[in-house]
Amino acid sequence: MVKICCIGAGYVGGPTMAVIALKCPSIEVVVVDISVNRIAAWNSDQLPIYEPGLDDAVKQCRGKNLFFSTDIEKHVSEADIIFVSVNTPTKTRGLGAGKAADLTYWENAARVIADVSKSDKIVVEKSTVPVKTAEAIEKILTHNSEGINYQILSNPEFLAEGTAMQDLFKPDRVLIGGRETPEGRKAVQALKDVYAHWVPEDRILTTNLWSAELSKLAANAFLAQRISSINAISALCEATGANVFEVAYAVGKDSRIGPKFLTASVGFGGSCFQKDILNLVYISECNGLSVVANYWKQVIQINDYQKNRFVNRVVSSMFNTVSGKKIAVLGFAFKKDTGDTRETPAIDVCKGLLRDNATISIYDPQATEDQIQRDLATNKFDWNHPVHLQPMSPTAVKQVSIAWDAYEAAKAAHGLCILTDWDEFKELDYQRIYDDMQKPAFVFDGRDVVDPEKLRAIGFIVYAIGKPLDSWLKDLPAVA
Ligand code: NAD
Ligand code: UDX
Repeated sequence: MVKICCIGAGYVGGPTMAVIALKCPSIEVVVVDISVNRIAAWNSDQLPIYEPGLDDAVKQCRGKNLFFSTDIEKHVSEADIIFVSVNTPTKTRGLGAGKAADLTYWENAARVIADVSKSDKIVVEKSTVPVKTAEAIEKILTHNSEGINYQILSNPEFLAEGTAMQDLFKPDRVLIGGRETPEGRKAVQALKDVYAHWVPEDRILTTNLWSAELSKLAANAFLAQRISSINAISALCEATGANVFEVAYAVGKDSRIGPKFLTASVGFGGSCFQKDILNLVYISECNGLSVVANYWKQVIQINDYQKNRFVNRVVSSMFNTVSGKKIAVLGFAFKKDTGDTRETPAIDVCKGLLRDNATISIYDPQATEDQIQRDLATNKFDWNHPVHLQPMSPTAVKQVSIAWDAYEAAKAAHGLCILTDWDEFKELDYQRIYDDMQKPAFVFDGRDVVDPEKLRAIGFIVYAIGKPLDSWLKDLPAVA
């Protein structure tokens, strides 16, 4: 029986291994983590992450061929294939702070593998890492262990949160990079054999190691770049009377462009896009390619601009101040169908409103109260000015409350901001919300959730990103 061990039981390690276990009953899969709480949650009825379809998959194979454990050394030493799926966040201090990937967790995992291995191993980079990481990992592994053959593969993960299970069941492609040697090819084949249990062969791509590592960064940069492009156009739409959703539809109908990832929004969030583009920027700079670095930096700059623009719209619409006013925030997760709040635009929007002394009531169907409070109390790390941190004042954070539902959040509010595209926000009784709000009642839609005309008919003043402005907003000074 082939034994797989995955180091890192997070948003990628957990779902990916659950699908491998489900599709390959002949393989034993053990997911290990340094976090005792996370492993306990994976072994309980309350999984540590919310992902549609995940509970079912875990329940079907946990205890049969899928296990979660904190005994890292034992399972690493017993495994034939070791996936490393630890977090690789942006460095917040030292050389490369604000851009480079922090590979501390990866290096620690590699050292454990080197320390405990007694047989040959295939080590799979599942985490997103800078191009050439495999070379560094190889040095760590081979430095410590004599007589053991390690083959490093790059097998980046392309799943998106909220749709992770369907992305894993039916991936557009599985990418495997390996050394172009007989041993390297054998290792690539061994990993291909795992995926071949459910992924058609023509969807399993093999490349050299560096192409695989770089393809992951490039794919995320391209996706984010599309969102920043349409968000840049959304500002122009507001200035001219065009509707960004009509423009995106017309543009996306060109088969060379395609319709996906052209939804204008308050900004992209999530743990990957900003981190991976910064990574690309850093690698470009390190290779002396400053023009390339500046090109990709613009994608993040537009994203920051879009979040600021949204806050400025809220404040300027509401008589240039939200001080002492209650703002209801619907949605805090970075997208629908996840409880994940990493890099969610809601953090920046809420902090912007708190700086103007607003009182905020937040409702999200999945993000927990603890997480939201922690996110808002944590100093924002500014990638562009890593030394100029802007601390949130403790009093500002006290002006945040968490509501049980949208109606409670909106009660007696002056304005309502929609920051996540949860389906349930489309179905709300906006007449009831309007009746309970202070007048004039404002809605700021950052996610194309409401129909502005329907809400205007109720009496709301509506701002919706990229759509023709309410007459109320047209008369205000332009927001840049
Ligand atoms: P995560 O923070 O949810 O999970 C990482 C886990 O690794 C944590 O539970 C942590 O405790 C554990 N860990 C860290 N160091 C460890 C060690 N030395 N030994 C054992 N466990 C250790 O992160 P994630 O969202 O799953 O992302 C993991 C990687 O996958 C990142 O590189 C990310 O860029 C990449 N990725 C993420 C997504 C996504 O949607 N989240 C998608 C594709 C790729
Ligand atoms: C992304 C990549 O899609 C995935 O392939 C990679 O493996 C990890 O990073 P994820 O961050 O989970 O996945 O979600 P994604 O669907 O890409 O959305 C990222 C952000 O962009 C969200 O905040 C989302 O709301 C926003 N978005 C997405 C838009 O604003 N407009 C769009 O058209 C699409």
